[in-house]
Amino acid sequence: MNKKIALLGMGTVGSGVVNLIRENEDLIHSSSGVKFTITHVLVTDTTKTRTADVSDIRVTDDITEIENADIDLVVEVMGGIDSTKDIINRILQKGIPVVTANKDMLAVHIDELEKTAVQNNTALYYEAAVAGGIPIIHTMQHSLNANKISKVMGILNGTTNYILSKMAFDGWEYDDALKEAQAIGYAEADPTADVEGIDAARKTLLLARLAFDKKFSLDQVNLNGISGVDIKDIELAKSAGLTLKLLGVAEDLDGKYNLAVEPIFVETTHQLANVHYEKNAVFVNGNMIGEAMFYGPGAGSYETASAVVSDMINSAVIAAKAKAVPEESGVQAEELPDSAYY
Ligand code: NAP
Ligand code: HSE
Repeated sequence: MNKKIALLGMGTVGSGVVNLIRENEDLIHSSSGVKFTITHVLVTDTTKTRTADVSDIRVTDDITEIENADIDLVVEVMGGIDSTKDIINRILQKGIPVVTANKDMLAVHIDELEKTAVQNNTALYYEAAVAGGIPIIHTMQHSLNANKISKVMGILNGTTNYILSKMAFDGWEYDDALKEAQAIGYAEADPTADVEGIDAARKTLLLARLAFDKKFSLDQVNLNGISGVDIKDIELAKSAGLTLKLLGVAEDLDGKYNLAVEPIFVETTHQLANVHYEKNAVFVNGNMIGEAMFYGPGAGSYETASAVVSDMINSAVIAAKAKAVPEESGVQAEELPDSAYY
């Protein structure tokens, strides 16, 4: 089946999506039967040179052109909060599924967007929004859904973990390590969100929402970042057998929820102390599985594109199955909870 795609954004992640689809086109087609054709790309500057070949794609700065086009799936990798939410809402209202990597927007608007999706018999996918390439959203939504989750904890921001690792292992100063993380494409457009723990707080909220099936707002997350950290703190910790990590924690304390992001000194023997550079790790405690750990790249072009394209394939396959056997589920859209995944 051929799926026409509009890609909103063509930066680090967007170019990764285009390149990945080109590189793995045959593999994707043979394993899922799906072929993606990116017909439109939305950017702010249509004259900019791109790191992916867009010669056969319509590059535009006009969202209405995309909203009026014949598109099967929209992939949002441009960022932005309220205005982007409005665009996605309009697309979902047309019954078109959306894949997004945008945790800034989701942390504020996910409840509304999922409701719009369900009401319009379509779906919102966001695997790439938490922990980059680690398949933690699908895991929380599907693979661990037979568990009562009591705690989710981990390293959820690649930029800060990269900075802390560069300082600890390579002796770099904080500012140099941050500049490098920006140059590679790990950091947000405004890296304040990374270093002040806001990005990790957004991801913690999204995980808590899935873990506890509750709605949370960002002001419920106690927040401390790493912008005040000095190389001397890191060296002192090292000599005491400790490693500084920025951790996101969400726990259910007998029905009271503790959500926090803070720099913690972890013993060097702990698994989290051995998650370095842009890598992330997530621990989940479930009443049946016990403790499970998920590890992998938390940021990066291809790494994040891996999660985005996986959502694209899942969306296409699920839509095809629903079309083939529409009566199979026997469930009407209005019977589904707002957070129904599909
Ligand atoms: P980026 O490199 O800054 O790219 C953003 C792209 O979106 C650019 O192509 C930009 O156009 C376009 N854009 C931004 N605002 C726009 C607007 N209002 N209208 C039209 N186009 C617009 O960002 P990124 O690192 O790829 O991140 C994209 C999204 O993925 C963000 O939500 C981010 O939080 C999320 N994410 C990133 C990573 C990562 O490792 N970088 C990982 C997971 C999730 P121009 O190129 O013309 O400026
Ligand atoms: N800026 C984010 C990070 C990108 O460094 O983790 C991935 O969400």
